[in-house]
Amino acid sequence: MRCIFFLASFFCFLTTMAEEIKSPNGNFSLTFEVNDGVPSYQLDYKNQAIIKQSKLGLELVGATSLLDGFSQANVEKNTFNETWKPVWGEVKEIRNHYNELAITLVQTETERKMVIRFRLFNDGLGFRYEFPEQPNLKHFVLAEERTQFAMAGDHKAFWLPGDYDTQEYDYTTSKLSEIRGLMKKAVTPNASQTPFGETGVQTSLMMKTDNGLYINIHEAALIEYSCMHLELDDENMIFQSHLTPDAVGNKGYLQAPRTTPWRTVIASEKAGDILMSNITLNLNEPCAYEDTEWIKPVKYIGVWWEMITGKSSWAYNDLAGIQLGITDYANTLPNGRHAANTQHVKEYIDFAATHGFDAVLVEGWNEGWEDWFGKSKDYVFDFVTPYPDFDVIGLREYAKDKGVKIMMHHETSGSARNYERHIDKAYQFMVDNNYNSVKSGYVGDIIPRGEKHYGQWMVNHYLYAIQKAAEYKIMINAHEAVRPTGLSRTYPNLIGNESARGTEYEAFGGNNPDHTTIMPFTRLIGGPMDYTPGIFEPDVSQYNPNNNSWVNTTIARQLALYVTMYSPLQMAADLPETYQKHLDAFQFIKDVPVDWDDSKVLEAEPGDYITFARKGKGTNNWFVGRTNDEQARVSQIQFDFLEAGKKYIATIYSDQKSAHYRNNPKAYEIKKFVVTNKSKLSQLCAPGGGYAISIIEEGNKKNLKGLKKL
Ligand code: NOJ
Ligand code: CA
Repeated sequence: MRCIFFLASFFCFLTTMAEEIKSPNGNFSLTFEVNDGVPSYQLDYKNQAIIKQSKLGLELVGATSLLDGFSQANVEKNTFNETWKPVWGEVKEIRNHYNELAITLVQTETERKMVIRFRLFNDGLGFRYEFPEQPNLKHFVLAEERTQFAMAGDHKAFWLPGDYDTQEYDYTTSKLSEIRGLMKKAVTPNASQTPFGETGVQTSLMMKTDNGLYINIHEAALIEYSCMHLELDDENMIFQSHLTPDAVGNKGYLQAPRTTPWRTVIASEKAGDILMSNITLNLNEPCAYEDTEWIKPVKYIGVWWEMITGKSSWAYNDLAGIQLGITDYANTLPNGRHAANTQHVKEYIDFAATHGFDAVLVEGWNEGWEDWFGKSKDYVFDFVTPYPDFDVIGLREYAKDKGVKIMMHHETSGSARNYERHIDKAYQFMVDNNYNSVKSGYVGDIIPRGEKHYGQWMVNHYLYAIQKAAEYKIMINAHEAVRPTGLSRTYPNLIGNESARGTEYEAFGGNNPDHTTIMPFTRLIGGPMDYTPGIFEPDVSQYNPNNNSWVNTTIARQLALYVTMYSPLQMAADLPETYQKHLDAFQFIKDVPVDWDDSKVLEAEPGDYITFARKGKGTNNWFVGRTNDEQARVSQIQFDFLEAGKKYIATIYSDQKSAHYRNNPKAYEIKKFVVTNKSKLSQLCAPGGGYAISIIEEGNKKNLKGLKKL
C-alpha cells in the first residue's frame, strides 16, 4: 500500500506501510516498511529472504536519535540505465542499471526529515541515508549507525576480526555461529587489538549459504564518514553496523544536507557474479576530473622486497644518528645496507628499461627513517630531503634518459597532520623531479593521537591527499589507508591501495595458502589492491639468513596473480637478480597488461580457487590466471571467450606434477599451443599453485608451424 503524502502522518505512523521494488531482471525484490514508527527493509532473491526484515536508523549524541517515531511522508520510484567508461578497469564499459526507491520519513516529534534511498541492481542492493537541508537538523553527531543485516541462516563466512586500524590479517573461514569462538585465534598474533565485542568483523564480508547462494556485504562511496564494521548478534544471526569511533568515542560529525555512504549487498548463486559485480563502482559518482590523460596504469619494480625481507635497510644509518645525537646525516656513517643509493637505484632503472617496466619504486630515499625506527616521536619526515647517497637530480635525468619513471614513496609514519603540513611542497618536489605517482603509507598509530586509520578524520585525510594530488597530476597508491569503496570511479588517480594483508606478510611469517582465493571476494570488491606479486624465491632466508619466512605459493601461481588480483598498478616485487635466473617465467610478467577491455570468471569458489580470463586493452589478446588453495586440483576451462575463426598462440605457465608450495615451489613448466575458441584445457594445479596463460592472436601461419593444437 502506498502512503499518499496528503494523508495525515499519524495515519501512516499507525499503519504498516510496505513499499516494494524489483531489480530490472526481477530476481531481487526489496521491501520497505515503517512499523510502529521504526523503518525496516527486507531483501529477497528469487522469493527467498536473504536479508530478513532489518531495522534502519541512527543513534545521535545529545539529541533525539533517528531510530523511531517516523512516518512516511513521500515515496519516489525511478529507473536508471546508463553505460559509462572507466578511465581504467576490468572492462571497457560498465552498465549502471537499477530501480530506485526513495522514502522520505518524518520524525513527528522533532519534525526532522530523513530519506532512505534504495537502488536495486541485477546483482544486488545499495542503500543509504540522506539528510536534506532543514531547520531542525543542521549539525549532528553520531553515536552509532544502527543498520541491521539480518541473515537468513548460519552461513559460512570469510572474515577478518573487527579492528579500527588494520586489515592485515589472514582470513578465517567458519560458520557465523563460530566467529565468537574463533575470534581470539583470528586476532593473534598481529592485531593491535579487537576493539569491539567478540563478534565484530570487517567488510567486505563474503558469505555462502547452505543452499549455495553467495552473499557479500560492503559499503560504497565512503566519504566524510567513518568506515563501517559489522557486529554479529549470533543468537539471532543479525549483523549490525558498527562505525569507527574518533578520539573521544564519537562516530561521525555531519552537517545537513548530507548523505551517508551506501551499504551494499551483492548476491548470486554463481560465485563469479560476485567477482564481476559493479555495484560498488556504480554507487560512486562519475569522474570528478575533466582531464584524465595523465592517469595511466603502471607496471613497476622497486627497491622494496630487499628491505621487507631484511636484506637491506630503509635507513641510511640506522640508529647511529639518533644515538649520537647527530642530525646532520652527511656526517654520520652509513650502515652499509642502505638500498636506496644512487648506484643501486640505477641498476633497478636499467632492469626496468630492459624489460619494459613503467616505473621503479624507491623506498628509503629520504631522511627520517632512523628517527622513526628509533621511536623518536619527532616525526621528521619532510618528504623532500634525500639521504646523502641518493642523488635526486642525477637519478631524475638517468631515469628520463631510460624512459622510466621513479615512483615516489611517502611514509607518513601515521602522522597525517605532519603530512598535510608538507603536502604541497612534497607534491611540487615530485613534479619538479618528474615523479607522477606516489606510494603513501600510514604505518603506526595515527597522529592526531586517538584518531583511527578507519575513522572519519582519516577518511577525510585520504581523500584530501587524493584531491590535492590531482592538482599536481599525481597518482596515489595508499598503504594502510581505509579499505576502498569504489572511490576510484570518481577519483581515478587513486590507482591503488593496500588495506589488506599483502605479499609483504610472506616475509613476516607467511600468508595462508588460500589467501588469494578469498581476497577477490572480499578486499577487491571495494577496489584494486597493490598486492605486489611476482615472488620467485619463496625461501626468504636466501636474502636474509635471519628471516625464516616462506612464501606460501608456487612460482606459477605468482604469475596467475597478475590476472586474478585485478589492479591497474602491478609490481614485480622480487629482486632483479632473481628474475635473471627465471627469465622464461618472467616473460609472463613482462607480457601481462595492467588495463583490460574485458574480463570473465571461468571458475571460482571462495577459499578454493579462482580462474579469470581478461582481454588486454586495445588488443585481441587474452590472459588467464588461476590461483589455487592448499589442495591439488584440476582446472577445466574452455577458450570460448576467444574470437571465432581466429588462431592464437597460448603459452601456458603451469606447475609441474611434483610442484608444491611448501617443498617444491619452483617446479614450473612452460608449453606453447595453438588455440581457437573451440579449445579446452584440463590443467593440474599444485597445492598452493596455479597457472597463467598468455593467448596472443597470430595471423601468420608460419609462426603456428610445429605447435600442437590444444
Ligand atoms: C608498509 C607497507 O605496506 C610497505 O609496503 C612499506 O614498504 C612499509 N610500510 C614502509 O613504508
Ligand atoms: Ca579451501
